Amino acid sequence: MPVLKHLGYEQHNIVRSKTLKHPFLKIGSNKKREIKLIPDYLLKVEENFACETPKSAGFDYATRPLLEEIPVKKQKAKRHFGVHGYFTKQSWNVVAEYIKNFSKPGDLVLDPFGGSGVTAVEALMNNRRGINIDLNPMAVFLVQSLIAPVNQTELAEAFEQIKSEYIKNEPKTEDEIKKALKKYPQPKPLPLPKGSDVETVDQLFSEKQLAELGYLKSLILRQSNENIKNSLLLAFSSSVNKHNLTFHYTKSDGGGDSAAFRYYRYRIAPDPGNMPLIQIFETKYKKVAAAKKEMEYYINPQTISNAQIIKGTATNLKFLPKESVDYIYTDPPYGKKIPYLDLSAMWNAWLDLEVTEEDYRQEAIEGGGQKKSKDDYNTLIAQSIKEMYRVLKFDRWLSFVFAHKDPEFWHLIIETAESCGFEYIGAVPQKNGQTSFKKRQNPFTVLSGQLIINFRKVRNPKAILKANLGMNMAEIVMQTVEGVIAKNNGATLEQINDELIIKGLELGFLDLLKKEYTDLTPILMNSFDYDDETELFTIPSTR
Ligand SMILES: C[S@@+](CC[C@H](N)C(=O)[O-])C[C@H]1O[C@@H](n2cnc3c(N)ncnc32)[C@H](O)[C@@H]1O
Repeated sequence: MPVLKHLGYEQHNIVRSKTLKHPFLKIGSNKKREIKLIPDYLLKVEENFACETPKSAGFDYATRPLLEEIPVKKQKAKRHFGVHGYFTKQSWNVVAEYIKNFSKPGDLVLDPFGGSGVTAVEALMNNRRGINIDLNPMAVFLVQSLIAPVNQTELAEAFEQIKSEYIKNEPKTEDEIKKALKKYPQPKPLPLPKGSDVETVDQLFSEKQLAELGYLKSLILRQSNENIKNSLLLAFSSSVNKHNLTFHYTKSDGGGDSAAFRYYRYRIAPDPGNMPLIQIFETKYKKVAAAKKEMEYYINPQTISNAQIIKGTATNLKFLPKESVDYIYTDPPYGKKIPYLDLSAMWNAWLDLEVTEEDYRQEAIEGGGQKKSKDDYNTLIAQSIKEMYRVLKFDRWLSFVFAHKDPEFWHLIIETAESCGFEYIGAVPQKNGQTSFKKRQNPFTVLSGQLIINFRKVRNPKAILKANLGMNMAEIVMQTVEGVIAKNNGATLEQINDELIIKGLELGFLDLLKKEYTDLTPILMNSFDYDDETELFTIPSTR
């Protein structure tokens, strides 16, 4: 990027991750299949594109640059958007850029808190190998069934057959519903977390919903092809999200979400809607089919062995030899907000997936059914960092998403990583979606989004420089602000704020900084130029 910039290319004429359709190439003798190319850089030359694909032969792990903030494109990939909900998904295009920056084709990429599998899927979509680990069986099922290769025609036939059978025998009358409840599989009445509006999973549904879901599931289970069955179960599980008493509609856009994803609590909705199940299932089936179509060039029977999707704990990666992984991108749980295992009960019950006592013990959260303390949480995260260090090769990178509001937790991560032997290279702000209005109003207390902390495993790591008494805070603040403005050719209040928080965290004086600079605006207005239209602060030309 610096070289391109030096050659005169600006942000607006460097385009990344653009899919090109190759007009000439064909596969096989007469089968015409579209070939897609995704060059690393497209350079706009007088409004046309020229293509540059850097050769991985010259790839040097030691000199990889840190990435600047990447605009989020959450909805633009069918493989991640709309197939199945999950709690706090990472934006696929951000993860893809990180994978491309810190690893090369063929490399092994690991995410030990993998969730809905964005890291593993993007690793494969970029010709890497991927390992996705998660403790939550629901997450593991989602990823496995999402990437399971299928023949599209057979999948479509299976869907059509199920649809017509369902429409023929759908339980409608009270009597039919009663019979269906006895005859078809029902979810285990697993207990729901404290604070839920009802006590067990079955109470999250009306009898009619239970009968309909049970019947639909029984039809899917009759499929003999495992991958097709699981792909349809994925669409089924995604339909469960919409067909229960906690589904909250967003009337303005016709969408919505069930309470576990939306409020992180099983809250019964005032009006959960009553869209026919088969209609929901059809939409979800189409999303699954489209996702598979989008992935099939990179994820297919020939490449599927490049993915390992494992139910396990990040705190014990014993099945991975030391120094076997080339890059780790991970987004661990943060604090108390989301007890993943408790909140996944509705899906785990319908999918017949078991969560053991040991799983609960290993889950890296605060609170939850096991009432874990901050110390429990810190110990589990620290143990997972140790394991990440062990399995990573030397000279390779770990990108660790930091979305915690507590600076104490920053120090835990940095100190644990350093005590293992990681070198802290730098943290960069990276949003994962829209910033809420509340956060913007109160700039100097919270980050505008998450941070990505980048470490490298090197033989002689340098420790992070801490603030010392001789340092002048005002000077550091000024230097940091000037630095961010110069780097970006003008910076917004939000960018300046984020950079100062990182500096405060790095130097260990964030609390002091917050106390002395409750509002940055007057200082910025005094020392810098401000443009109302672009909302950018710039360095005065007189300086
Ligand atoms: C913030 S989420 C990850 C979301 C993911 N980045 C995505 O895009 O879907 C954290 C994940 O860590 C998992 N988890 C919690 N404790 C774990 C542990 N000890 N080992 C592995 N996974 C764990 C949770 O089940 C959850 O899926």
